[in-house]
Parts: sequence; structure tokens; C-alpha cells
Amino acid sequence: MTGFHNCPGRRGLAFYVKSASHGTIEPMTAIVGLAVPGIIRPYRPADREAVHRLAADTAFFGAPVETFLPDRQAFSDAFVAYYTDCEPQHAWVAEAEGVVAGYLTGSVGGRGATWGRLRVILAAACRFVTGRYRFGQRGSFFVGRLALAALRGESAHADLRPYPAHLHVNVAEAYRGWGLGRQLLAACLSQMAELRVPGIHLHTTSFNRAAVPLYEKMGFRLLAVQRTRVWEPWLPGVEVENRLYGWRAT
Ligand SMILES: CC(C)(COP(=O)(O)OP(=O)(O)OC[C@H]1O[C@@H](n2cnc3c(N)ncnc32)[C@H](O)[C@@H]1OP(=O)(O)O)[C@@H](O)C(=O)NCCC(=O)NCCS
Repeated sequence: MTGFHNCPGRRGLAFYVKSASHGTIEPMTAIVGLAVPGIIRPYRPADREAVHRLAADTAFFGAPVETFLPDRQAFSDAFVAYYTDCEPQHAWVAEAEGVVAGYLTGSVGGRGATWGRLRVILAAACRFVTGRYRFGQRGSFFVGRLALAALRGESAHADLRPYPAHLHVNVAEAYRGWGLGRQLLAACLSQMAELRVPGIHLHTTSFNRAAVPLYEKMGFRLLAVQRTRVWEPWLPGVEVENRLYGWRAT
């Protein structure tokens, strides 16, 4: 089955092809009107290194993870590996100028996904306690602040019945503002609708200043807001809110 899909973005035109290999839709989104052509396509195992690198390069509100955690491997293992290794069929890549310029990782949720993520995080925790990561003072300080924030309940939890799925999206600094983030989200939302997933949630903050308007434009609704103090040492004088957004298929 093939067909054109009008993306909400001003620059995009998506061409969808039913794919035997993926068993689901396989969009090839040619992004028109750009200085350099961009493509949105399903994630491939060969993208793993580039996606993990980009995740680390953008982890601190779009800047590198080293700001708060010196060990990239620890970050990858705890926050990215589940998506690329256990649910690669729900990941998308934006390719521009022959490089991975952006990615979206997703999970349809459910019990299998919860256990899968728990396994991956436990494996990372084991590596941590056996000294396989180099956290240094900065990393330990961050983990301590994260633990404190969890104790203070600074992050809202999504209701997984209406919003079982979730996603993460990031675009490399040099390619922001091209429409890639919007197109990645459009591909993911189409796939989730095709899979009859009722809703998707995501976590962001008030300090992700490009992401907030993007999610709202794509139809995500603000579900909860909570002030967080995690980032105070890195963002002195800035009040940051954790924000939980949800998108419903119908
Ligand atoms: C957020 C992010 C994924 C958006 O991707 P992008 O490709 O730059 O965004 P797009 O070009 O598709 O823009 C789509 C919409 O996002 C919003 N947006 C994008 N850049 C923006 C900016 N600098 N300031 C405010 N809004 C912005 C606009 O609403 C825009 O719609 P418009 O083009 O009609 O104005 C990307 O900027 C990014 O990776 N930022 C750093 C990391 C991050 O915050 N990730 C999200 C973690 S929750």
C-alpha cells in the first residue's frame, strides 16, 4: 500500500510504503524546501553508534552530556540502549547530508517494555556498583541530585492506561529548525496510530525551549507540571519545571 500523507509541518511531504521487511509502514519522508535534502526513515542497526552519540551530544537541554555526567557509556546504557536494542522497530532517523541528523526513539509500552527497561537499567546499575563506569565527582553529584529529586517526587508519572507509549526526540545542533523534529514526530505518531496505540506520553522541561512549542503544535496536551531542583547547580537562577505531555490517537 502506498500513499501520500500531509504532515503538519510547513516543509514536509511524506511518502508511505507498506513494507514486508518491517511488517508495518515504512515511511520515506522527503523533506522539501530545504537547502540540503533530508530523509526520515526507520532506524537500522547500523545507525546505533550515531544515535547513541547524538543522544549523548544533546542530553543536557541540547548540549553534551558531559556537562553533568562524564561517562557517555553509562548514559547510553541507562537511557538509550533499551530503545535501540529492544524496540528498534519503533525508532526513526532523520538523515541529512549523509549523516544521522536527528532521531526519535519510542516504546509502545506494556508489561514487556517495563520489564525490558528494568533489565537494562539493572544491568547498568550492576556495572556502576562494580566500578565499570567513571562517574567522577560531577557524575556522582548528579546521580545524588537525581535520587533526591525522586524522593521529593519532582517528576510526574503518566497514567499508562490512556498513554502507554512514550518517546524521546533529539536533533543535532547544526540541523535544528529544518523541520526534522516535526517530521520525526509525524512519523512516530502515524506509526503509533497504525499500531492502534491509544496514546503516547513524554517528559520534557520548561527549559527545553524549542521542544515545548513543537510538542504543543503536534497535538500533545500538558498533563502535569512539577518544579524541579535537579538542574540548579548548572542553571543558577533559572526555575525549571518538569513537564509531562500526552497525545491521544483519537
Ligand atoms: C526540540 C527539537 C527536537 C526540535 O527539532 P527541530 O528539528 O529543531 O524543530 P523543527 O524545525 O521541526 O520545528 C518545529 C517546531 O518546533 C518549534 N521550534 C523549533 N525550534 C525552535 C526554537 N529555537 N525556539 C522556539 N520554538 C522552536 C517551533 O514551534 C517549530 O515550528 P515552526 O517551524 O512552525 O515555527 C530540537 O530543537 C532539539 O533536539 N533540541 C535540543 C534537545 C531537546 O530539547 N530535545 C527534546 C528533549 S524533550
